[in-house]
Amino acid sequence: TTDYGAMAGSRLVIITAGMSRKPGMSRDDLLAANANIVGPIAERIAKTAPEAVVIVVTNPLDVMVALTLLRSGFPRQRVMGMAGVLDSARLRAFIAERLSVPPSDVQAMVLGSHGDLMVPLISSITVKGEPVTQRLSASDVATLVQRTKDGGAEIVALLKQGSAFYAPATGIVEMAGAILQDRHAVLPVCASLDGEYGLRDVCIGVPAQLGAVGIERIVELPLSVDEHGALVDAAAQVRQGISALAALQANPR
Ligand code: 2OP
Repeated sequence: TTDYGAMAGSRLVIITAGMSRKPGMSRDDLLAANANIVGPIAERIAKTAPEAVVIVVTNPLDVMVALTLLRSGFPRQRVMGMAGVLDSARLRAFIAERLSVPPSDVQAMVLGSHGDLMVPLISSITVKGEPVTQRLSASDVATLVQRTKDGGAEIVALLKQGSAFYAPATGIVEMAGAILQDRHAVLPVCASLDGEYGLRDVCIGVPAQLGAVGIERIVELPLSVDEHGALVDAAAQVRQGISALAALQANPR
């Protein structure tokens, strides 16, 4: 349907609307175009499904989550973005492929921004409990991390038209299941922070426990100094995107 009325009373709304990248474009190149699509949608959701939990998928992801939060007026528990599940799945898949083990044997979590400033928690990557650093050299791990950061662009370049859909869809389903089945599962999601990790007024990828209410709590993992620094850098870049968006909306082209 193209009728917003069909979502009346929904418990969960997933926003995937927007333009996807063309080869060579960064996710940030989509900022203005997708803000004009996502902003009005957030307002329609607030009117039509005022109790819904919202999962944002549109890029640039972290800024679109901030925009949806603002334009819906929803509490931060009910607005989140899907990126960390996807980025973590890609990293797990690349490590698994390199080691010829099943991806389910690899535990890895990617926080931070959905872009160049992803923050993979390298010291906690394990393969059936064994630290990945015992199985792969630091440079091998760095190569796989870089491929994860470039994973979206790699698929855009191969598809020529449109962007990844199988892995993002799987990520969305995992988050939707945690919410609709009230599973209290901890997944990396883009969330609005209010002091967690020393950050506030920014949306960024962090582990969060998801249930029927949306984000039940943000999980504060002990990060190394480098990991925390990388998270702060990612947050600064997202803030720049939020400011750029505010400037665009005050002064539309
Ligand atoms: C991706 O990483 C489209 O940003 C999405 O594939």
